[in-house]
Amino acid sequence: MEEAYLNWPKLIDEALADWGSVGVRGEFDNIVISGMGGSGIIGDVVKLLALGRLSTPVEVVKSHVIPSYVSEETLFIGVSYSGNTHETITATLRALEKGARVAVVTSGGVLGRVAAEKGLPLFKTPSGLLPRVSFPHMLTGVLSILDSSGLSIAGRSEVEHARAGLESDKPGIAGEASEIASFAYSGDLLVVATHSPLEALAVRAKSEFNENSKIIVKVDVAPEWMHNDIVGYERPLFTSYRVIAFYDPDDKVGRRLVEFMVEEYKGHGRPVRSIPLKGVNLVGKVLYAALLFGLASVKLAGLRGVDPSATVSIGRYKKFASGVFEYRV
Ligand code: F6R
Repeated sequence: MEEAYLNWPKLIDEALADWGSVGVRGEFDNIVISGMGGSGIIGDVVKLLALGRLSTPVEVVKSHVIPSYVSEETLFIGVSYSGNTHETITATLRALEKGARVAVVTSGGVLGRVAAEKGLPLFKTPSGLLPRVSFPHMLTGVLSILDSSGLSIAGRSEVEHARAGLESDKPGIAGEASEIASFAYSGDLLVVATHSPLEALAVRAKSEFNENSKIIVKVDVAPEWMHNDIVGYERPLFTSYRVIAFYDPDDKVGRRLVEFMVEEYKGHGRPVRSIPLKGVNLVGKVLYAALLFGLASVKLAGLRGVDPSATVSIGRYKKFASGVFEYRV
């Protein structure tokens, strides 16, 4: 599975080959991006990238429930690697009912069929991968749709530069990932700490350790952490934890906030590993973090002797969910 992650620059090239092929015409009041798990994280990351770059609000929907403001003025992007995720299908169908302009990113499945039948703009991601491994392709797909719809938050050249940076950083990332895996391989609860607005990347790291390494992970985000969690660390019931703290070295405030968190954890006698994010631009930093924690989580699976690709309990839930969500396509 490590090779699949290390293949990301090529996967980005594949997505870049389709850059500009899918867009939605119109004027939009808001953007809503729907998806779950490894597909849902794309919305979180797009929201992070849009924060300082786009005046149109971006909302992320990680359920079957969509905001009441979804209307003809909404650009709604349904992201589901398999195209068969009940929450995403339900949310997308509800958005269509409300007249939203809908685009889809998927490898096929029900959502792919809905897109074909209704003539919806579709950015196709290659099948045969795991959703979480398809991250850079789906991300490039959504960035491309936004760019082609007059709502650019990252242009093609930014993605190309980020891709080149990732390619040259690959050996360093693989080495750092091995060290993170050794650090995380313990009986301690793993805590992933960072600063706003990078929470999407901490959630991505958490999910990668959940799904690939099969472990429970807590996410701590400054500065909100300083207003509640911090007190819980004074007298915790569970004292055996260790922390991976990452920050954007170009964000002076974020960096200082994480330094404060690190001092707190260390003050409680817990081990901490601090990681500055590398990357030639913001997209590059996103890819760096995603690849670093993806590889680290697969390496940790190796140390633990578990299969990183299997997600048995998600399968169990999806079977159950087929009797819960009711939609007709
Ligand atoms: C990640 C993973 C899950 C799925 C999620 C939604 O690799 O397997 O987090 O991403 O269950 O499924 P899709 O992505 O097919 O919509």
